[in-house]
Amino acid sequence: MRLLVLPGDGIGPEIVGEAVRLARWFSADLGFDLEITEGLVGGASIEAHGAPITDAVVEQALAADAVLFGAVGGPRWDHLERPARPEAGILRLRQTLDLFANLRPAVCYGELAGASALKPDLIEDLDILIIREATAGVYFGLPRGIETGPDGARRAYDTQSYTEAEIARICHVAFATARTRSGRVCSVDKANVMETGALWRAVATEIGAQYPDVALSHMFADNCAMQLVSRPKQFDVIVTDNLFGDILSDAAAALSGSLGLLPSASLSAPLANGRRRALYEPIHGSAPDIAGRGMANPIATLLSFGLCLRHSMDRPEAADRLQQAVRTVLAEGIRTPDIAVDGPSVSSAALTDAVLRQLENPSSPVETKARR
Ligand code: NAD
Ligand code: IPM
Ligand code: MN
Repeated sequence: MRLLVLPGDGIGPEIVGEAVRLARWFSADLGFDLEITEGLVGGASIEAHGAPITDAVVEQALAADAVLFGAVGGPRWDHLERPARPEAGILRLRQTLDLFANLRPAVCYGELAGASALKPDLIEDLDILIIREATAGVYFGLPRGIETGPDGARRAYDTQSYTEAEIARICHVAFATARTRSGRVCSVDKANVMETGALWRAVATEIGAQYPDVALSHMFADNCAMQLVSRPKQFDVIVTDNLFGDILSDAAAALSGSLGLLPSASLSAPLANGRRRALYEPIHGSAPDIAGRGMANPIATLLSFGLCLRHSMDRPEAADRLQQAVRTVLAEGIRTPDIAVDGPSVSSAALTDAVLRQLENPSSPVETKARR
């Protein structure tokens, strides 16, 4: 297993450091060779090389079995031109590795129902999967720019564009995945206003006809945002475009209790050898407001490695064990500050220690005293 680790900026190195400890534990436990290479991305790469990612790191990502990514960005680099900003690093990886299928599961652990802004009965046992198209749409559409007209007034424009093939392939992922879950897909668009939305809905319907055993519904994105925060359990698989997926997945994170809980997997189509290129990252950013204090919630990144076990390493049972260990640790009341509500909290490292102890010895009671 060749794992390229790209910690990035802010809390990135803190949470990825914890996930690497977890990866090494699984490598020893399951007896697979783990070859970890570490690289720079985002602001860290800008400081060292003057660019948010280098060709060498992109080559390493192409050669790796999987990439484990932290987060990029921060106020220090916000003044830079768009292609020079930290965020361009992750966007280039998504595009070059063709990671069009971004899976963002949002699970609400019953133990954390109190940490969510919603009433516990609305989110208890919530288990939804947002499937976000991640290599097209307004993030990448051309032309884009800011120009100054003859009158000196500025105009900015982006292009939202989707081809039939780009919509079809993400819909296939959604329908195939729904078959392994409750067999329901909700396709989210703005077909009432946008041409891309109209094509999205038409193609989703056509692809859906190839999966008669999966129930397809459609919803406008604004209504979906509202339904997510009022009746989230109606959803199972949501499939949507790049921008709506970005926004709706942060909203889904708030349902689960914290942005620090949601992992993601970004997958390509199968290559000639049958494998998919893959990048695993938490859905949250570099959290500059809490960086450097050892208090970031590592669970999103630990579970991102869990998705790596599931999707790149064909070890679903190990991914299940990890999920169970996280659940038990939360049940024991061990929490980082973002999910502690008014109770005691522990550091990122202490929470990871508790998860590792659970994995090591699932029956042993975990010490529940708060540690800093
Ligand atoms: P953010 O996700 O970094 O933070 C939003 C809020 O959530 C903050 O209050 C933060 O403290 C909290 N938070 C996030 N992750 C947490 C964790 N693991 N544990 C506890 N609390 C956590 O979003 P932002 O503040 O809008 O953006 C900050 C920077 O991150 C920006 O430069 C942005 O572009 C970048 N960003 C990067 C990625 C990525 O690399 N994939 C994703 C989102 C944002
Ligand atoms: C995410 C982030 C990224 C996105 C940024 C950092 C480019 O918000 O992964 O959700 O908008 O896709
Ligand atoms: Mn986002």
